[in-house]
Amino acid sequence: MAEFALPKNSKIKEGKKHSAPADAKKKRTFNVYRWNPDDKENPRLDSYEIDIAKCGPMVLDALIYIKNEVDATLTFRRSCREGVCGSCAMNIDGTNTLACTKHVDDVKGDVKITPLPHLPVMKDLVPDLTHVYAQYNAIEPWLKTETQPPARERLQSAKDANHLNGEDGHGPAACILCFCCSTSCPSYWWNGDRFLGPAILLQAYRWISDTRDEATGERLDNLEDPFRLYRCHTIMNCTNTCPKGLNPAKAIAEIKKLMVARRV
Ligand code: SF4
Ligand code: SF4
Ligand code: FES
Repeated sequence: MAEFALPKNSKIKEGKKHSAPADAKKKRTFNVYRWNPDDKENPRLDSYEIDIAKCGPMVLDALIYIKNEVDATLTFRRSCREGVCGSCAMNIDGTNTLACTKHVDDVKGDVKITPLPHLPVMKDLVPDLTHVYAQYNAIEPWLKTETQPPARERLQSAKDANHLNGEDGHGPAACILCFCCSTSCPSYWWNGDRFLGPAILLQAYRWISDTRDEATGERLDNLEDPFRLYRCHTIMNCTNTCPKGLNPAKAIAEIKKLMVARRV
C-alpha cells in the first residue's frame, strides 16, 4: 500500500549504519531514505559509508555500488544512466534531480537521498507515478488531426520543429517526464489532485504549439479551469529545478497568454 514520503526537512529516525572497509581510499557517506510497505515500520535513514574510488562518479553509480556490494534490499529506479529516461529522479542534498547526472563531488559532506517529495512512496526511493501519468493521459499527448492525411507524413518546417525542440535543445519536446519540477512546486504539493503541475502543463504546451496539431481550441478548453492551469502562481521552483534546463514556468505563461488572446 502506498504511503506519503516525508517532506525533505522532516526528522526521519536514523537506521542501520554500514561502514567502509578499513583500506578504503576515498570514503563518502550516503544517508538514504528506506521504507518497506511489508515490514510495517516507520521510514528511516540508513547510512552507507562506501569507498567511492570503487565506483563511478555519479550518485547513481554510488547507489548501484551500494545495492550490488553492500545492501541488495535498497530499491530505486534507473534505466538509461544518461539523463534521458527520467526514471532515476529523486531528492539529493535537498534538490530534486537525476541521480545519474548528479556528481557526488558536487555535494558537500554526507549525501542525503530521499524520494521525490509529496508523492506516495512504493518502496525506498521509488515513488508511485500512477496519478501523474493519469494527469498526463488527461491532456491527450498525441497528435490530433481532422484533415485528411497527406500521401506521406505531415510535414513541419524547420522553424516550427525548432520551436518544439528549442534552438538550444531546451524546448518542450525535450522533457523527459522525470517530475522533478512538479514535485518541487508548492502549488502542486497542495493541489496536485486538480492542478496539473508544471511537467504536465509543459507537455500540454508541447501539443498546443505543434503546428501539425489541429485540436488547439479543444486543448485550451480542457485547461480553462481554475485548478488545472490557474493554480500556477509563477513561483518558478519548477524552472529552477529542471535537471534538463527546461522552462515549464514559461510554457505555462504561454498557455495563459493564448487563453487571453482567444478571449479578445
Ligand atoms: S511557476 Fe507555477 S508550476 Fe512552476 S513552481 Fe511555480 S507555481 Fe509551480
Ligand atoms: S520539465 Fe524538466 S523537471 Fe519537469 S518533467 Fe520535464 S525534464 Fe523533468
Ligand atoms: S537513469 Fe535515465 S535519467 Fe537517470
